[in-house]
Amino acid sequence: MSGMRVLVLGADGYLGWATCMHLSAAGHQVAGLDNYFRRDLARNLDLPPLLDPPALPQRARLWRERSGREIPVFIQDLCDYDALVEVMRRFEPQAVVHYAEQPSAPYSMMGPAEARTTLVNNLVSTLNLVQAIGALDRGVHVVKLGTMGVYGTPNIDIEEGYLTVQHKGREHTFLYPKTPGSLYHLTKAQDGDLLYFYCRMWDLAVTDLNQGPVYGIFSQEAGDDPRLLPPLAYDDIFGTVLNRFVVQAAAGVPLTVYGQGGQTRGYLNLMDTLTCVRLALESPAEPGQYRVFNQFTETFTVMELARAVVEAGAELGLQVEVNNIPNPRREAEEHYYNPVHRGLLELGLQPHYLDTAMLVKMLRLVLEHRDRIRRDLMDPRVTWQGGA
Ligand SMILES: NC(=O)c1ccc[n+]([C@@H]2O[C@H](COP(=O)([O-])OP(=O)(O)OC[C@H]3O[C@@H](n4cnc5c(N)ncnc54)[C@H](O)[C@@H]3O)[C@@H](O)[C@H]2O)c1
Repeated sequence: MSGMRVLVLGADGYLGWATCMHLSAAGHQVAGLDNYFRRDLARNLDLPPLLDPPALPQRARLWRERSGREIPVFIQDLCDYDALVEVMRRFEPQAVVHYAEQPSAPYSMMGPAEARTTLVNNLVSTLNLVQAIGALDRGVHVVKLGTMGVYGTPNIDIEEGYLTVQHKGREHTFLYPKTPGSLYHLTKAQDGDLLYFYCRMWDLAVTDLNQGPVYGIFSQEAGDDPRLLPPLAYDDIFGTVLNRFVVQAAAGVPLTVYGQGGQTRGYLNLMDTLTCVRLALESPAEPGQYRVFNQFTETFTVMELARAVVEAGAELGLQVEVNNIPNPRREAEEHYYNPVHRGLLELGLQPHYLDTAMLVKMLRLVLEHRDRIRRDLMDPRVTWQGGA
């Protein structure tokens, strides 16, 4: 299916604008919605990203000049139900990509206000989306970004969304048990349950993409225009691990590996996120289906990521150090980890695996902005014990 009308919720974020451009370039009619929730949080906490793209209307103008394609943008709060209904009435999406949540585990564990903000924003936004679709058009396909973190690190293989259990001679297939490791991850488990519930009640069609941490900033659509690159957060609250390591390496700051660094997770390149979301949209879930894909391309321990950045730094003559610091989180540092990730490969994903060339390219770009890197933003300040 091509030429769909797709509404991207959370269009201003790290993944959002890159997704808008990617879908637009693929021939879809795209609109974006965002209320700058994330920019506001970062500004209030004094955590400026290293790359700080222009606001959405300006990016839409730049994209129009580059591609000749329009992406209308709506500056609205997804937690405002009436505003969302109005946007959906005007744009009449056939599919919605839902990125618009508070995405940081440390932020969600900072204190009571941040916990409440995370819980309310992530669940009310998802509920509003479901209710608006219920009221307007139940055929709209929802592609919601979940996280591999909902599964935790169980001592058995992680299946793709569901687990078949034999019990006292009978068999039943359940959603795979969730053991999230932060309040943020818990809200991702809860929004998934909410969507699964409405698939069963209202026959909604939903794809939940349980994504691992994303790295990288480059995409075909942004090309070499720095104004179209995503924001690059490198602080301990919003920076994802590999992106943070690259900035630390460029700044000459030892890489902060939490504990022994044996934590294993599934990672993927930003460009693969874009393809995964597009593939999920172009082969939609059936009415009543809550479809789950595990969205990552390869697994690494944190220490392996640190070694990859040390190696890439060496290519540029940087002597990158690694610092094992006390782990602020409550998580296993040595554990079994074998998640299935077949669905998106079967839909046609051709992964961009992590390599030194990509890390070197990213390091070169970050080095151009070296003077603006704030060294005081990278050490962990939030522990999982409560309190900042
Ligand atoms: N980046 C990753 O590594 C990663 C990994 C797994 C899952 N995810 C998930 O993917 C999604 C996108 O992640 P990201 O890294 O782009 O995060 P991001 O914070 O950069 O983008 C999210 C966007 O949603 C917007 N938003 C939040 N609440 C909103 C609301 N109530 N109304 C309107 N807009 C709102 C924010 O302003 C922000 O621009 C998130 O749901 C995140 O949990 C991200």
